[in-house]
Amino acid sequence: MAIPDSKLVDPSDIIQLPLLDFSLTETAEGRQQLANKLEEAFSTLGFVSIVNHGISIDETEKVRGVAREVCSYPHELQEPYLAGAWTSDAENRDISPGAEVGQGYKPRGYWSMQHGTRDAIVHYNFNNIVYSDFGAIPEKYPPPARPHLERIGNYYRHVHTSILQRLCDLTDIVLEIPEGTTYDTLYKVVDKDAENSGHGTGRFMLYHKQPQEVDQKNDGKWLRGHSDSGGFTFITSQPILSLQIRDYFTGKWFYVGHVPGALIVNIGDAMEFLTGGYFKSSIHRVIAPPADQAAYERLVLIYFSQPRRSAQLDPEQLNSPKLDRLGHKTPDEWVPITCGQWQNEKGRLFGQTEVNDSEGDEPNLVVVYGRLHERWHQVNRKFTVEEARKTHKVIELKV
Ligand SMILES: [Fe+2]
Repeated sequence: MAIPDSKLVDPSDIIQLPLLDFSLTETAEGRQQLANKLEEAFSTLGFVSIVNHGISIDETEKVRGVAREVCSYPHELQEPYLAGAWTSDAENRDISPGAEVGQGYKPRGYWSMQHGTRDAIVHYNFNNIVYSDFGAIPEKYPPPARPHLERIGNYYRHVHTSILQRLCDLTDIVLEIPEGTTYDTLYKVVDKDAENSGHGTGRFMLYHKQPQEVDQKNDGKWLRGHSDSGGFTFITSQPILSLQIRDYFTGKWFYVGHVPGALIVNIGDAMEFLTGGYFKSSIHRVIAPPADQAAYERLVLIYFSQPRRSAQLDPEQLNSPKLDRLGHKTPDEWVPITCGQWQNEKGRLFGQTEVNDSEGDEPNLVVVYGRLHERWHQVNRKFTVEEARKTHKVIELKV
C-alpha cells in the first residue's frame, strides 16, 4: 500500500539527499563522478542515499516482514533474548555492553528520555553477522527470527561485502589513496576474529507511537539527536517523514525525503575521527510523523558497520595526502584510542539519565578520551573540549 506524501510539511523543510547511483561503480569514470558527489555530501551533511545497490525492493520488503514479526514479539516473552538489562540505568556495564551494541532485544522503555519519559522503540540486534557461523545456533534467536536466519544473514552480508566495500573505494578516491585501502585496512572480514575483523550489527527497529502527553513533553521527539559510533550506517529509506538531520551550519532540522528502494547512509564517529573531522558524523533524530502520516509505522532495517576493534581512531591511519593538505590532523587533546574502546564507551552513554537530563535539543556533553561524545558544533574547528567546558555542562567520564 502506497503511503501518501504529507501535505502538512513545508517542502522547504525536507531535504533530498545527494543520490549515488551505484550502477556507476562499474567504471573508473563513474566512480570518480560518485566520489565527487560523496565528498561534497560527507564533508558537509554527512549523509547520502544510494540506489541500484543490488538489493531489490521485493527482497527488502521480505526482510522487513521478518523484522515486523521479530519486533512485535511480546514484551513479556523477550527476557531470554534481551541484549542486556530491561533499562539502561540498571545495566551493569562491567559485565554487559548494553542493548546499544549487544546481541538481542532492546525492549521498549530501555532508554531514558527528557522530562522523565522513556522511549517507545523496540529493536533487535544481530551481531557477528558477517562471520561464516552466523545463525548456526537458531535457538539463540527469538522464535520469529529462526526460520529466516539465512535471509537475514544474506541481506546484511551484501550490505557489508558489496555496498560498504564500494563506498570505501569511493572514500579512497576522495582521500587520494589507492582503491581498496579503507576497506582492507578497516572493514575486511577476518572470520571469527573479533579484534581484527571489520564487522557490524544488523538491526531491526520498530518505533511505537508515543502517548500524546509524552509527545507534548518532548516536542514529538522519539529518538533524541545523536551521532552514531561506528563507520557508515545504512538505513532503509521510509515513506513517512520522521528521520531528521541537523544542518551543521544553521542548526536547522530537516526531514529526510524518501526515495523508494534507497539506502540512506550516514557517517559515524569512527569515520569522522579517521578523517580528522573532514567527514561529519551527523547529528540526526527521529520525531513523530505529521498527523496525516500518523497511522503508518516506522520500521527500518539498519546496518551499523564497524571498523575492526583494534583500529586506532585517528587520521594518521589512512595516510591520506588530501587530509594532510587540508590540515585534518590529530588534535592535541585526543587521547589515543581504538575503535573498540570508542564503541564501548559511546554505547553506554546513550540512554543514561545523567546525559539526557538537559533542556533543549542538545544532551549534556561528555568528555571521553579527550573527545566530546557528541559533536554538535564540529563545523567550528575552534570548538575544542576546552571551549566546551566554558559554555556547556560537561561531564568528565573516567575510563
Ligand atoms: Fe543513529
